[in-house]
Amino acid sequence: MIPAEIYLDAAATTPPLPSVVEAIQQVQLSAWGNPSSLHRSGLVAAETLERSRVSIAQHLGAGTADLICTSGATESVHLALLGCCSNRSPGRFVMSAVEHPAVTAAAAQLTSLGWSVELWPVNHEGVIRLDQLERLLEPPTRMVSVIWGQSEVGAIQPVVEIGEACRNRGILFHTDATQLLPQGRISWHQLPIDLLSLSAHKLQGPRGVGLLLKQEHVELRPLQGGGGQEQGFRSGTEPVALLAGLAAALQPLPSFDASKTTAPPGATSRLRLQRDRLLSALLQLPGVELCGPCPDDRLPNHIALLLTNREGQPLSGRHMVRELSRRGIAVSSGSACSSGQSSDSSVLTAMGVDPSRRQSGLRLTLGGWIGDDHLALIQERFAEAMASVDSSA
Ligand SMILES: Cc1ncc(COP(=O)(O)O)c(C=O)c1O
Repeated sequence: MIPAEIYLDAAATTPPLPSVVEAIQQVQLSAWGNPSSLHRSGLVAAETLERSRVSIAQHLGAGTADLICTSGATESVHLALLGCCSNRSPGRFVMSAVEHPAVTAAAAQLTSLGWSVELWPVNHEGVIRLDQLERLLEPPTRMVSVIWGQSEVGAIQPVVEIGEACRNRGILFHTDATQLLPQGRISWHQLPIDLLSLSAHKLQGPRGVGLLLKQEHVELRPLQGGGGQEQGFRSGTEPVALLAGLAAALQPLPSFDASKTTAPPGATSRLRLQRDRLLSALLQLPGVELCGPCPDDRLPNHIALLLTNREGQPLSGRHMVRELSRRGIAVSSGSACSSGQSSDSSVLTAMGVDPSRRQSGLRLTLGGWIGDDHLALIQERFAEAMASVDSSA
């Protein structure tokens, strides 16, 4: 059955799984107490919270003490970067040139603490240039942050290699794994990563909850004071139901050994096949070009395109989003968080995409709700939308 809207914007957010909705509802009804309270309602909530923590930790190969609950990846990233750097004497902070605005915004605050910020350049596919590693990890570098799965162009970064190099040099390493986690669960204790941010709503969990994973040795200064929850790192009454939802969302994901393979498996093998089928179909249309790495080296649910008309003139990605939306297909131009704005994509700029083409980017990200019978329809409507954008340009 074809839904009213075929949703191809999983990198922006995802619909919660039925098991997630059920888990949340159950906790809201039966364990709504404050987990810090000493009466029965509080104890029920505390027990429920602990069960979710244990389940989440097991799914991620972590200990419960490694988890800090936050409101989402934006907060996790700020806690990681500002909480570590405000504790230390200033040095150089290095981040990839293709970070999410959550990281660039936190980095901007580091400069007011006396830190210098340097961008790690990427190649034309959006992948970190490892030939720059020695130079960038020299003193005074004290902290590095690299996005694991790039949201706009799907590039997967060699975070294990970078993490090992940082660890050998005593440099703190943070990764924003928000887009990677939905494609495979990591084994936290086996990774050379000091801090990792993730968000539940990207993996069919609830909006409003995320995690910062922190290795035990990392010293962190909390950004806010209060009741001392989350081991004192993040005060505020815990969202017990949302954490139950996160635990339920992690449960069906396949696990992924990042030390053996760079690309996560994909939430399901069916999803990966659908992505490959859809991509080949779209690439048959004139003026459609893949942006970022080849299918095997990118996020398994991710398609990023650059569009031109038959004369080779760039088509507007934002215009395509509107035309596809009118035809019942939800996609985004560039990264969804900034797609409300019309500014140039800093990610495409860092990849060296010609200025005239930077507005022609389109992103399609799939999830388990897509049926095989949707694919031909998407291709058909895509071709119609391109013709419509071209004729009105
Ligand atoms: C890579 C990446 N990091 C961080 C975020 C921010 O996540 P949240 O909405 O949970 O704050 C997003 C969301 O778009 C993202 O894609």
